Amino acid sequence: MNGKSILLIIGGGIAAYKSLELIRLFKKSGANVRAVLTKAGAEFVTPLSVSALTAEPVYQDLFDLDDEAQMGHIQLSRIADLIVIAPATADLMAKMAHGLANDLASTVLLATDTKVLMAPAMNVRMWEHPATQRNLAQLEADGITRIGPDEGDMACGEFGFGRMAEPEAIFNAARDLLAGETTGPLSGKHILITSGPTHEAIDPVRYIANRSSGRQGAAIAKALASLGAKVSYITGPVNIAAPHSVTTIKVQSAQDMFRAVNEALPADAAIFAAAVADWRVDCQGDENRKIKKQKGRMPVFNFCENPDILASISALPTNKRPPLVIGFAAETDHVLPNARAKYKRKGCDWLLANDVSGDVMGGDNNQVTLLSPDGEESWPLMSKDDVAKRLATKIAKALSKP
Ligand code: CTP
Repeated sequence: MNGKSILLIIGGGIAAYKSLELIRLFKKSGANVRAVLTKAGAEFVTPLSVSALTAEPVYQDLFDLDDEAQMGHIQLSRIADLIVIAPATADLMAKMAHGLANDLASTVLLATDTKVLMAPAMNVRMWEHPATQRNLAQLEADGITRIGPDEGDMACGEFGFGRMAEPEAIFNAARDLLAGETTGPLSGKHILITSGPTHEAIDPVRYIANRSSGRQGAAIAKALASLGAKVSYITGPVNIAAPHSVTTIKVQSAQDMFRAVNEALPADAAIFAAAVADWRVDCQGDENRKIKKQKGRMPVFNFCENPDILASISALPTNKRPPLVIGFAAETDHVLPNARAKYKRKGCDWLLANDVSGDVMGGDNNQVTLLSPDGEESWPLMSKDDVAKRLATKIAKALSKP
């Protein structure tokens, strides 16, 4: 942790007293710690204790002129290598999940693009409440890492999940998160990934799209980054947040995506998880003008073929082609025979066949079969996060070979 910069946000819960010990652990490991103490947090630990342990001023007020003059809230959110929220109260989690920014802590959290680790702490009923669980799911989908809460006796006299993780466990989780960036098996590797659907314009207000949620691609981008890869995440329009610690490139159409992929090269590996539209409307009219409805007359559209991004990148000359090119095959029927034919046709190194006939598009789980020169490997049904982790580990292994 030597020289690393931690921004610790201390929320208002009895567990705040443990954050003092956490500061001590960070300082002992050589990290610099700055702290934001919420109004409620200051009811449990004093600014003086926090300041004495961090050897830094304590930041408390969004509108404090002295604080703002020394370090504005935007800068505060940017200087850290990692933001740790301990304790992360139900209120802080709710604010974060909904993007509220009505005090210094929540504003910093909304303004940051840094990795965030949170250590929730609250009464067991509050933890189990559907609202908290909804917020938790949202925060995890947004790429926020969580440690705890632990099960045990609580200050309020109840028993269950809600105790903040011990300072040592939070410290270890923070260290692992930071270490993943620089020392993971994929550190020094650049991997690009396409994800989500594409939108093909019909006119300025209408488009053709598909049901891809982009969740599998985002999960893969996140898993690669957590193994230390530099990730270029090229995504079509989606309703999910981009993972932290990746370079996000947002695109609309297949042609935009193709351009973005070429601009992101060179790469050590390229993964094509996007559901790219095969055709776009061959617009004859004025592309800035909405097509008007004409009673009894149906519009007729001509389509033209979009570039096949995966096939084009697979066919690049060796000096330009990423050494490992991975495609997906989204199939509703005859999954394996179709995928085998696609594997041959596209010229990629690996292909993940998945059956999209059920609720895979937009759902939580995925069942894939990996086709590679080593043969076919059918993975059991698992969460998209687990598919991503397994794939990232396999990629790390493949890229470590000379
Ligand atoms: N793909 C791509 N560019 C396209 C179409 C597909 O890069 N224009 C990639 C996808 O990202 C995926 C793979 O090719 O990795 C297979 O996509 P899929 O939609 O399953 O196959 P298609 O080639 O579109 O063939 P079909 O629609 O006939 O199944």
